[in-house]
Amino acid sequence: MKKKVVIVRGVFPEVVAALAERFEVEHNAADRPWVGEELAARLAGAAGAMTTVMDRLDAPLLERCPALRVVSNIAVGYNNVDVGACTRLGIRVTNTPGVLDDTTADLTWALLMAAARRIAEADAYVRRGDWKIAFGVQYFLGQDVHHATLGIVGMGRIGQAVARRARGFDMKVVYHNRTRLPEADERGLQATWVERDRLFAESDFVVVMAPYSAATHHLVGAAEIAKMKPTAILVNSARGGVVDDAALAFALAHGRIAGAGLDVFEGEPALDPRYATLPNVVLTPHIGSASRATRLTMCRLAMENLTAVLEGREPPNPVN
Ligand code: GLV
Repeated sequence: MKKKVVIVRGVFPEVVAALAERFEVEHNAADRPWVGEELAARLAGAAGAMTTVMDRLDAPLLERCPALRVVSNIAVGYNNVDVGACTRLGIRVTNTPGVLDDTTADLTWALLMAAARRIAEADAYVRRGDWKIAFGVQYFLGQDVHHATLGIVGMGRIGQAVARRARGFDMKVVYHNRTRLPEADERGLQATWVERDRLFAESDFVVVMAPYSAATHHLVGAAEIAKMKPTAILVNSARGGVVDDAALAFALAHGRIAGAGLDVFEGEPALDPRYATLPNVVLTPHIGSASRATRLTMCRLAMENLTAVLEGREPPNPVN
């Protein structure tokens, strides 16, 4: 008898078809999120679950899934899963690191550039029909990116991919990470480790690239924002909760910093209501890794991880 696998969100048909060759597959093709009781009911009896960052797998839910052997997250982050509870219950957790670094770094740069040069605001202006005079010396004045200082908080794989892109703009790159990179890597990236306070004070652009955990909750809050230059721009394409949204929205509303580019939010898809009214913030709906090629690669890797565990092999990307 085939083991049951549940694909909790809508994924590419080729991934569903490939999994169906080995397993009995239940696929949420409608992509209407299953939460709480419904998710528990769908997962009861399943040996494998393929999940996304918004599917909350906490201990009470996991305890109701006695057949579950693997949670395969289609994401590099896994703060949606209680990994400790999984370990206790004999459930492997896997993720998809390495394949989304460049795509996420690209999006991070898109937000940085858009916020610096007020692209979303200018686009809305043109669409509204407000563009009446062809050229204005003082139209939509923004911040220069080239030759500016980029500060990266969290210098893992994606942070490093962001740093590499800064070379083309002749930027000075500083970073802060719990552990300093080996000297050769710093030299390769032309990036200098600095204390956190200094990073916030000196950077023209602060990019947050730290994963979410209790230790990184509100890593960027009112105190950090207060240290930033009034002309600075903050970009968060890492995780909601790493930045204190209330503090950031307040700072943006009061012109404490020049702008922000945000792909992730606390409690998404809910949004601090101030963001939607502020012209100096660019908002995207958690699409950091969302190129067609990368999302397909992530799904395939998640499938490999899940299949390996259910066939008794070590998965390529174990979390526990
Ligand atoms: C997306 O947010 C991921 O963690 O891959």
